[in-house]
Amino acid sequence: MRITTTVSRLEQAQNLDRPAAWVRALVRRLPQGAVRDTLHGVPLGHPVHPVLVQVPIGAWFSASMLDLVPRTGPASTVLIAVGVGAAVPAAAAGLVDWAETHEQQQRVGLVHAACNTMAVGLYSASLVARLRKRPLRGRLLALAGLAAVGTGGLLGGHLAYRQATGVNHAELVPHMVGDGSRWHSVGLLSALPDGKPARRFLDETPLVVVRSGSEAHVLADRCSHLSGPLSEGEVADGCVTCPWHGSVFSLADGEVVHGPATAPQPVFETRVLGGELQVRLPGAG
Ligand code: FES
Repeated sequence: MRITTTVSRLEQAQNLDRPAAWVRALVRRLPQGAVRDTLHGVPLGHPVHPVLVQVPIGAWFSASMLDLVPRTGPASTVLIAVGVGAAVPAAAAGLVDWAETHEQQQRVGLVHAACNTMAVGLYSASLVARLRKRPLRGRLLALAGLAAVGTGGLLGGHLAYRQATGVNHAELVPHMVGDGSRWHSVGLLSALPDGKPARRFLDETPLVVVRSGSEAHVLADRCSHLSGPLSEGEVADGCVTCPWHGSVFSLADGEVVHGPATAPQPVFETRVLGGELQVRLPGAG
């Protein structure tokens, strides 16, 4: 049986929902704002968790390699300590991302987090053993930690590449709306509600249209976070809020004002001709 088939079964493991709800409630106590946005990776433009995990994984793997070389015990100890310390911000970033995902993603994510927590525990124990001059015990604990973090990494790959967690769900829009230099009609401006989001279509691509008097803002409707329908969200202060996990996007330029989304929404140019609202997406095609 392929490993991915086994991992896919985790997506349906409903007995993980209760602990997931408990952890999620805890993580969501962190209020929306600069700290949460930074942990999501909003300033970076993509999730920060995959960047942060490089440090503990790299340090721990290097420590195990050095464990094979004579007289490198002190260097291994330093690397393991660095990995344990660096795991804290990496875990914090992963948790805030995880708390705003679909339930199938949360099931796999919970086991991913459990493996990595186990790895931190094993490496911490390895550190203590090394400091107490018990090198063999320290090496064996580090090897067990490497197996745990490896399993966590496998599940992280499944989350990213099979379950599309953390990717830009609006990336395909410029490839689906045809020639970006051509204008397309999306209906009469007068038929749109004023100051409220409405859904219109450009061929198969859903758009969220927000009319403001004689003008309109038009963005791709599917949220870049996990494809939530922005046309069912709230509009206030020049922004639209996604109804699924609360990402806030500027109507003027599609930029992320608050996460969990990190990628901007594609924004269409607009004009009104003969009462018809027309749109185009520069650079599309
Ligand atoms: S789908 Fe998650 S915030 Fe929009």
